[in-house]
Amino acid sequence: MAFLLHYLFITAIISAVSFLLHRSSRHRRLRLPPGNLGLPLVGETLQLIAAYKTENPEPFIDERVRRYGSIFTTHVFGEPTVFSAEPETNRFILQNEGKLFECSYPGSISNLLGKHSLLLMKGSLHKKMHSLTMSFANSSIIKDHLLVDIDRLIRLNLDSWTDRVFLMEEAKKITFELTVKQLMSYDPGEWSESLRKEYLLVIEGFFTVPLPLFSTTYRRAIKARTKVAEALSLIVRERRKEYERGAKKNDMLAALLAGDDKFSDEQIVDFLVALLVAGYETTSTIMTLAVKFLTETPLALAQLKEEHEGIRAKKSESEALQWSDYKSMPFTQCVVNETLRVANIISGVFRRAMTDINIKGYTIPKGWRVFASFRAVHLDHNQFKDARTFNPWRWQSNSGISCPGHVFTPFGGGPRLCPGYELARVELSVFLHHLVTRFSWEPAEEDKLVFFPTTRTQKRYPINVRRRNRSFS
Ligand code: HEM
Ligand SMILES: *[C@@H]1O[C@H](CO)[C@@H](O)[C@H](O)[C@H]1NC(C)=O
Ligand SMILES: *[C@@H]1O[C@H](CO)[C@@H](O)[C@H](O)[C@H]1NC(C)=O
Ligand SMILES: *[C@@H]1O[C@H](CO)[C@@H](O)[C@H](O)[C@H]1NC(C)=O
Repeated sequence: MAFLLHYLFITAIISAVSFLLHRSSRHRRLRLPPGNLGLPLVGETLQLIAAYKTENPEPFIDERVRRYGSIFTTHVFGEPTVFSAEPETNRFILQNEGKLFECSYPGSISNLLGKHSLLLMKGSLHKKMHSLTMSFANSSIIKDHLLVDIDRLIRLNLDSWTDRVFLMEEAKKITFELTVKQLMSYDPGEWSESLRKEYLLVIEGFFTVPLPLFSTTYRRAIKARTKVAEALSLIVRERRKEYERGAKKNDMLAALLAGDDKFSDEQIVDFLVALLVAGYETTSTIMTLAVKFLTETPLALAQLKEEHEGIRAKKSESEALQWSDYKSMPFTQCVVNETLRVANIISGVFRRAMTDINIKGYTIPKGWRVFASFRAVHLDHNQFKDARTFNPWRWQSNSGISCPGHVFTPFGGGPRLCPGYELARVELSVFLHHLVTRFSWEPAEEDKLVFFPTTRTQKRYPINVRRRNRSFS
């Protein structure tokens, strides 16, 4: 998802024509949010890219919020854009999805995603498919069906760790295997690894800038997408036959086959590809960054270990985690929230105004792009004390912070709320459980956070691991 957003940013350079439009006299009469449109065509794009190459997480927005306030106008990647760094405005944007705002992706992205993906759907079809996706990964489904495989597959992956691992790579492998299992009940093996290799090429296509149609990476990505789609179509066909014979499985594919919409194979495949894309970078990055922040905050790591050793002490070595175990990890949930808050894998979301929109005394002209920045809110010192420090204890119920729902929005909100929000939390928690109870580690090299084009660490976070002696009681 993060790369979708950045990609959206970047490909828009091409559509610089619209720059000319906002100079029209109509727009001069409207009261735009204050700001600076920068140079013709490039606007402030270069400042933005340069800013995010530093280690400071939010320099571009910080500087403009100081100068203009928390809603401002800029011009990036070929279009004038209104930025919001304010929780109420962000909420307004999210809640009015489909009414006043809609998301829009460039054609090169749609080709990679497939036109029947949830991310591109609109209107009543989106509403229906969004709720189907939500119910595929809701807490009772995770509890009754998904948790057992999450536990098993994470364990299996950790079994093979020795000496040095690149945490980001391992986390990606885990995430991919989990998603394939959840979507279509396939266990990892040669098949899933070769699918993943093709899939990685597809992902690269999302980053090709700025002229995708002329780029070999993009063409390779489109080819790989065809291969991925073929592999998935085979499964869909097989499963459709099984379904017609009355066989029942418990996964997303079953829900799509059983729906009364009679989706075509192509529709189902597009839908599945988009789910694979949406959960992949996000969940694996959050796993990696949680470990990074914990490693840099030894007191938090010690407290987390204690919590998980307490859970392990009551179970045998090979016993799987239960839902009740997940529900008795209060400190882990603080770590999860704090990681989401500080890391901001999805820094915010782009929308397009469907009509002239009046907000806080300003007008956002119809057709303009807006960016609701979650990161700016999550890192705002007025919202969170010492906002730029990783401090999981701030989430403890006795710490006195009360954080209204619309201030902390790592998973977005409104009609496009992330359907994987609970799943990602559970996967991260189970991963941390097995990691801290089975290993100790230290970073193998210094590795820095970078924020552009996506939030990640520069070197895939290499660590040296040692197996721990697991007798805790
Ligand atoms: C830490 C992990 C994750 C983060 C931070 C995250 C964040 C987000 C955010 C902010 C959005 C809203 C985008 C928008 O409003 O335009 C979103 C949408 C979405 N997410 Fe996630 N996500 C995560 C994991 C997952 C997982 C594991 C899945 C798999 C089920 C998933 C599936 C989706 C889908 C399908 C959408 C599109 C929803 C729609 O457009 O209706 N995400 N995610
Ligand atoms: C979760 O979704 C299932 C259908 O997939 C539904 O029967 C159940 O009521 C939902 N549970 C919650 C807690 O929303
Ligand atoms: C973490 O954030 C969610 C909102 O996304 C909130 O509902 C939950 O209470 C928070 N957990 C803790 C431990 O504060
Ligand atoms: C693990 O620790 C226990 C108790 O501290 C000890 O009895 C046992 O021999 C240790 N096992 C290994 C493999 O070091």
